[in-house]
Amino acid sequence: MSHPSFDLRGRAALITGSTYGLGWGLARALARAGCDVMLNGRRPDPVPPLLAELRGYDVAAEFVAGDMSQPADNAAVVAATFARFPQVDILVCNAGSFFDTDFLEMTAARFDQTFALNVRGQFLTTQAFVQACRQRDEQGGRVILMASANALQSEGGSVAYDASKGAIAAMTRALAIDLGPLGFTVNALAPGLIDTPLTSWLAQRPAARAHYEQAAPLRRIGQIDEVGEAAVYLAGAAGRYVTGQLLVIDGGLTAQQIPPAPEG
Ligand SMILES: NC(=O)c1ccc[n+]([C@@H]2O[C@H](COP(=O)([O-])OP(=O)(O)OC[C@H]3O[C@@H](n4cnc5c(N)ncnc54)[C@H](OP(=O)(O)O)[C@@H]3O)[C@@H](O)[C@H]2O)c1
Repeated sequence: MSHPSFDLRGRAALITGSTYGLGWGLARALARAGCDVMLNGRRPDPVPPLLAELRGYDVAAEFVAGDMSQPADNAAVVAATFARFPQVDILVCNAGSFFDTDFLEMTAARFDQTFALNVRGQFLTTQAFVQACRQRDEQGGRVILMASANALQSEGGSVAYDASKGAIAAMTRALAIDLGPLGFTVNALAPGLIDTPLTSWLAQRPAARAHYEQAAPLRRIGQIDEVGEAAVYLAGAAGRYVTGQLLVIDGGLTAQQIPPAPEG
């Protein structure tokens, strides 16, 4: 039997960018806690087996296509979610990506692409979600944004990405203040390096993978379920007095100044 503070039965969540990678881990963890789930991504092709897996946890699951860098899609995806799951009170703004090139080569277009998806997308989706919740009732809800450990410390070569994640950290605090009196908690997940298609380049570079594994005090790269389960905490009764926070899930990477020196 599940612990009631982590039980999401009867609830529903919209998770943006959830057809693979971290978003899929978030969707699966929420479904395992009993939550109905609306998946989102731009392409529908990977979706049918995902819906079948989620429904195997005895929850309802659907998919709505939409590009979260497009303002019209931010609103349409939220509207479709409320139409299918009228009780929805959990939003996870996960859709985000990395468009950086070398700083001196970086174009205004790539900078804008980063902020359109990683920052404006989260802003507009949260705004549409909170407006729709308020039209339905005054119960409030849970908003979980997607930051990154890069909001706290940089790896280099990622100026626009890091700036976008720093913006999410600031937006989390600002939204927590604005929406707390309306009954919403607003927090952000800040994962370190997690195995997803976005980080699949590690498979081609075993020395780099070993380096990153050794850099984390827990000596490994994170897995998507480890981020998903943190979202269950923030969405459930357990997280009811937590707001305005970054929840760092990075194996201790950002706890240290620099990794320990090698032997010798
Ligand atoms: N992986 C990491 O180590 C790590 C660490 C810290 C933070 N993060 C953050 O976690 C989030 C997810 O990262 P990830 O590694 O899981 O990425 P990913 O492997 O690239 O997953 C992308 C998911 O988002 C969807 N997506 C991509 N662009 C989209 C768009 N414009 N609109 C809607 N959906 C879109 C993809 O489906 P389609 O391609 O069909 O659209 C897919 O479902 C990002 O915000 C990222 O910054 C990741």
